[in-house]
Amino acid sequence: MRTKIAIIGAGPAGLFLAHLLYQNGVDCVILENRTRAYVEGRVRAGILEQITVDLMESLGLAARMRREGLVHAGINLAVDGKIFRIDMADLTGSTVMVYGQQEVMHDLFGAALARGITIIFEAARVQPHEVDSSQPHVNWREGGVERRLDCDYIVGCDGFHGISRASIPANSLNIYERVYPFGWLGILADVPPANHELIYANHAHGFALASMRSSTRSRYYIQCALDERLEDWPDERFWDELCLRLGPHTAPHVARGPSFEKSVAPLRSFVAEPMRHGRLFLAGDAAHIVPPTGAKGMNLAVSDVILLARAFTQFYTKNSTAGLDAYSASALARVWKAERFSWWFTGITHRFPEMDSFTRKMQLAELNYIRSSRAAQTTLAENYVGLPLN
Ligand code: APR
Ligand code: PHB
Repeated sequence: MRTKIAIIGAGPAGLFLAHLLYQNGVDCVILENRTRAYVEGRVRAGILEQITVDLMESLGLAARMRREGLVHAGINLAVDGKIFRIDMADLTGSTVMVYGQQEVMHDLFGAALARGITIIFEAARVQPHEVDSSQPHVNWREGGVERRLDCDYIVGCDGFHGISRASIPANSLNIYERVYPFGWLGILADVPPANHELIYANHAHGFALASMRSSTRSRYYIQCALDERLEDWPDERFWDELCLRLGPHTAPHVARGPSFEKSVAPLRSFVAEPMRHGRLFLAGDAAHIVPPTGAKGMNLAVSDVILLARAFTQFYTKNSTAGLDAYSASALARVWKAERFSWWFTGITHRFPEMDSFTRKMQLAELNYIRSSRAAQTTLAENYVGLPLN
């Protein structure tokens, strides 16, 4: 088999890239080691920045999002039970869209099928080869048969645990990492959300987040220990702790109901530089991870692949490698700003195990400063809605 661009991984990074390449007439093939149902079923975040909404529009994939997505013009911060609002629309002129990543994936897979974009599911032992040469290829096993895809370039969109970054020699990558000493215990429940907008809460017991998937489905998180056992968190205990942390303004509006998903997610900041090795490029979680506090994960995958698709299009239409050569530096410029924002937002909203009384006072002072300063609110808001691409 031969194609121009071999894409490893059919998460948001791989699928958005494939749609962009298709739109620009550049052939590609996606190799995904799981099934469509598995990839589509993974519960992830659900806040789309304007660049992601615009991309769905320009790819002709926005009809359902326009109908079912919720446009949010603000977010709320609760500090020890007292709540205030950041009016993102007023401060920045932009909004965000609440539309679950699972919904995005459903729309992307559906359209990929309709457009004839080739996705090979359940590709086992995918391995990029000869990325230092001008004839790279990817091998994999399909139904016990060894297969090979020759290509011009390979893009690793295979997430944090994928093979692409792992196949780059360690001495060719710089790794920057912070693992946080806590996790998020999250639930999904078919109950109306407590508030029409998100609430990020800093409470002496730890962080809490009130989010949603729709007007009838709520998504809530509370900060927990990394080794928290789900059996220790029956729904009632979760609801009690959530209400305490969200505070007396919100607690009466929390509709309780049975959760149908409950899991603990670790929090990590991670960047691998550069995002290219020879003819292998990295995009999305394969190159970087942010803690979920800023809701940036999928949006960063989107900005990476927009840059990459432009660069490939330039290569095939103008025979110029300028965009490809600039890709890593351009993508990383935006990635590092989102890393900073996600790290900072995590830092002011979570309870850290080693936190002394002075550090706690600094957290509260910073949150009070945000509450009282339009300048500080603007800084938060412009990062939350997403910084410009270039
Ligand atoms: N071979 C083929 N496919 C692989 C391999 C492999 N060795 N390893 C992983 N994959 C697939 C996974 O099954 C998954 O479908 O690559 C895909 C990676 O998808 P994500 O982990 O979602 O990564 P990305 O597309 O970069 O998404 C970025 O979306 O899912 C969220 O948390 C993620 O917010 C982040 C954003
Ligand atoms: C979510 O709805 O899952 C969500 C929302 C905002 C975040 C993180 C997760 O910052």
